[in-house]
Amino acid sequence: MFESFYGLRHTPFTRDIPTEELYIPVMLEETLERLEYAAQRQWFAVVTGDCGTGKTTTIRRITAALSAAKYKVLYLSDSKLTPRHFYKGLLEQLGCEAKFYRGDAKRQLHREIELMRGIHHVKPCVIVDEAHLLDREMLEEVRFLLNVKMDSESPMALILVGQSELWDRLRMQTYTAIRQRIDLQCKLQHYDRSQTGEYIARHLTYAGSEHDVFSDGAMDVIYQFSGGSARLINKVCTNCLIYGAINKRRIIDDHMVRLVIQGELE
Ligand SMILES: Nc1ncnc2c1ncn2[C@@H]1O[C@H](COP(=O)(O)OP(=O)(O)O)[C@@H](O)[C@H]1O
Ligand SMILES: [Mg+2]
Repeated sequence: MFESFYGLRHTPFTRDIPTEELYIPVMLEETLERLEYAAQRQWFAVVTGDCGTGKTTTIRRITAALSAAKYKVLYLSDSKLTPRHFYKGLLEQLGCEAKFYRGDAKRQLHREIELMRGIHHVKPCVIVDEAHLLDREMLEEVRFLLNVKMDSESPMALILVGQSELWDRLRMQTYTAIRQRIDLQCKLQHYDRSQTGEYIARHLTYAGSEHDVFSDGAMDVIYQFSGGSARLINKVCTNCLIYGAINKRRIIDDHMVRLVIQGELE
């Protein structure tokens, strides 16, 4: 509804913004390059960041950037992941029906990966999102994946993605064996004030807006409220656009943002 009032072709501030339309500040550009390198070298990488800082979006982008002829990305995001579901999920994405027993499924997966690498020359890249929710047993299982050496190289790239507490856990003594295997660590940061403004502008450009909608003062308040978390910026901006359209206000100022935050988001 607010789209027509502001003359927008697409809805801004949603999760399904196409990967080629994302806001890519220098820090994200660097993270993407490092992750591409990790995929190429078949490394073990850990990506952490607070809730809403763009971890899953980063994974979407890197998946789109990796050539399908050279890489096979296997993505899992399941908070209740058990070892059996883990192998089943990966095998399903390879078009295989998983054997029932964990040991059998594991051997089956290794065989498939060997085929993929040896015969098709495709590099597997396993990404586990929401990895801060994995229990200890599951984290160990994930590590075992890397243990089988096909040749001198690691059998696959493995990227664990999770909220900052994933890194706090990996730093504990009990996880030393896993931690020592990590080749690359990336931490996603919150946006600062100027990135928050650029982020908002990027979404509006994608949506097809022809003029600025949020005043500078409005963006200051959005930044204060969101702390530079992309997900919270989306939430405030969407609520402001709805409010602005109902009240026929082309420009959203700081006063309106405060009203919306107080009325709907606090
Ligand atoms: N670089 C970006 N460009 C545009 N939108 C983004 C970007 N990063 C995150 N977003 C938006 O912010 C929301 C939250 O990002 P998400 O990747 O789900 O965060 P996380 O996985 O860290 O919790 C997404 O729905 C998406 O719309
Ligand atoms: Mg996520």
